[in-house]
Amino acid sequence: MHNNTLLYLHKLINIEKRLIMKTWKKLLLGFAGIFALTALAACSSSKDSLEKVQDKGTLTVALNPHFAPFEFKTIQNGKDTIVGADVEIAKAIADELGVKVKFSEMSFDNVLANVQSGKADIAISGISATKERQKIFDFSDTYYESETVLVVKKDATGTYKQTGDFAKKSVAVQKGSIQENIAKANLSDANVVSLAQPGEAINELKSGQVEGVVLEKAIAKGYVDQNSDLAVSDITLKSDSKDAYAVAMPKGSDKLKEKVNKVIAKLKKEGKIDSYVQDAYTLSLKSSSK
Ligand code: ARG
Repeated sequence: MHNNTLLYLHKLINIEKRLIMKTWKKLLLGFAGIFALTALAACSSSKDSLEKVQDKGTLTVALNPHFAPFEFKTIQNGKDTIVGADVEIAKAIADELGVKVKFSEMSFDNVLANVQSGKADIAISGISATKERQKIFDFSDTYYESETVLVVKKDATGTYKQTGDFAKKSVAVQKGSIQENIAKANLSDANVVSLAQPGEAINELKSGQVEGVVLEKAIAKGYVDQNSDLAVSDITLKSDSKDAYAVAMPKGSDKLKEKVNKVIAKLKKEGKIDSYVQDAYTLSLKSSSK
C-alpha cells in the first residue's frame, strides 16, 4: 500500500475514534444526569412529613367543623372562626414545629382522603384510630377516649329499650364515620341513613324522619342539652374498634409523629385536653352556628 494512503487511513481512524469518544461522553453525561435526577426525586419523596411542613412553614390541618366541642364554627370578632378542642391541639402542634397553622374545612368522609393525597399534612377531627385506618395512616397516641351512644326523642325512650326495637326503623349517622359500621353491626334490622353532618341527623330525628341518631357521647351531650325533646337512650352499642381519638398523618411520618406525640403527652399531663373540651363545650352552647 502507498504511504499516503496509509496516512489517510490512519487519519480516518483517528477521526472515527474521536467521534466514538464524543458519543460516549455524551452518553455518560446523559446517564449522570438521569442518575442525579432520580437521586433527587428519591431524596424528596423520602423526606419525612416533618421536613415538608417545616419547609413550607405551614401546617395544613384537615377537619370537619360540625363536631362540637372538638371542631365547630362560631363568630369571633365578627368573623366566622373554626374553634374547639382539636383546634387548640392543632395550634399547640404548630407551635412545637415553629410553623403557622391553616385549617382546611371539608366533609368528614373527605378528611382522611385529604391526608392521603397530600393536600393536608395532618387531620385532627375527632378521628378514631381504628385498625383499618392504621393500615393506611400513621396515628399519634390517642388523646381522648370516646364512646358511641344512641340519641332518641325523649318521649320515645320507653319505646326503644333494646337494639331489636329498631327493626325496620331508620337511624341516622354521619357519613364516613365509624358510627356507620357501629349502627349496622348493632342494629342489623334497622335502615341506616348516612348524612353529611351530625346536625342534619339531629334535625331528621327532631322532624321524625328517623327514630335514632348514632353518635359519640361528647357530641350527643351538646345536642341533648340544647334540645329538650331529645335524650340519650339506655341502649349500649358494642364497638370492636377502639373509639379513642388520635391525629392522622401520612404513612412514614416517623419524625412528625414523634413531635405530635410529644405535644399530646404534654397536654395530657397538664390536664389541658380536658379543659379544652370543657371550654369548647361552654362556647358551643353559647354559639348559634355549629
Ligand atoms: N370518631 C368518629 C370517626 O372517627 C367520628 C368523627 C367525626 N368527626 C367530625 N369532625 N365530624 O369516625
